[in-house]
Amino acid sequence: MGKQSVLKCDFLQGAVNHRLRFGGGRGQHLPKAVGMKGGQSPTIIDATAGLGRDAFLLASLGSQVTLIERSDTIHELLAAGMESARQAGGQHKDIIDRMTLIHGDSIALLPHMKADVVLVDPMHPPRQKSALVKAEMRAIRDIVGVDQDQQLLIETALAMAAKRVVLKWPAKAAPLAGLRPASHQIIGKSIRYDVFMTG
Ligand SMILES: C[S@@+](CC[C@H](N)C(=O)[O-])C[C@H]1O[C@@H](n2cnc3c(N)ncnc32)[C@H](O)[C@@H]1O
Repeated sequence: MGKQSVLKCDFLQGAVNHRLRFGGGRGQHLPKAVGMKGGQSPTIIDATAGLGRDAFLLASLGSQVTLIERSDTIHELLAAGMESARQAGGQHKDIIDRMTLIHGDSIALLPHMKADVVLVDPMHPPRQKSALVKAEMRAIRDIVGVDQDQQLLIETALAMAAKRVVLKWPAKAAPLAGLRPASHQIIGKSIRYDVFMTG
């Protein structure tokens, strides 16, 4: 088991639930980056679902979100977390009902799909100050490795997203070499969102 055991997907308690209750709604950086202002709720594909936190936030604000995850282990954890939240009923069920989980590789699947927005949050290369990387992220990286094909994933998303592609990236990291410049950026303390308008 080892590091894998620190991982669980829990939408009912902890950080995800706290953010749901006190998180600041559509004014947060991620909803802004996907274009939720002015009451719009774009359709979204989360091409790197992970433990589903970003997708859950976006679905809680009204968007239909399709989540794609290629790791067997992470997909299983996420499916179980979604099922528990569905069974809890109430607001949690309403949110999960706006989320559709697919097991597969986004690079192969995206060209056959449609959405206003594609969100991409690949496993980033390890930072030098590795102690700063959260234990959970380290545990995920132990399972899935670093996503070496992230550039191909972003190019694939850029070719099909109707309105925009949003890349979640460490705030201070250089842009990916070879990628066209972002249309705009939303920069936070540790994370930034590079927004590429497509339509
Ligand atoms: C940094 S995590 C995403 C965290 C997520 N944003 C969240 O809120 O929990 C990256 C995840 O994307 C998955 N992934 C990376 N490339 C992928 C691809 N081409 N297709 C599907 N999943 C991918 C990895 O397996 C990993 O679980």
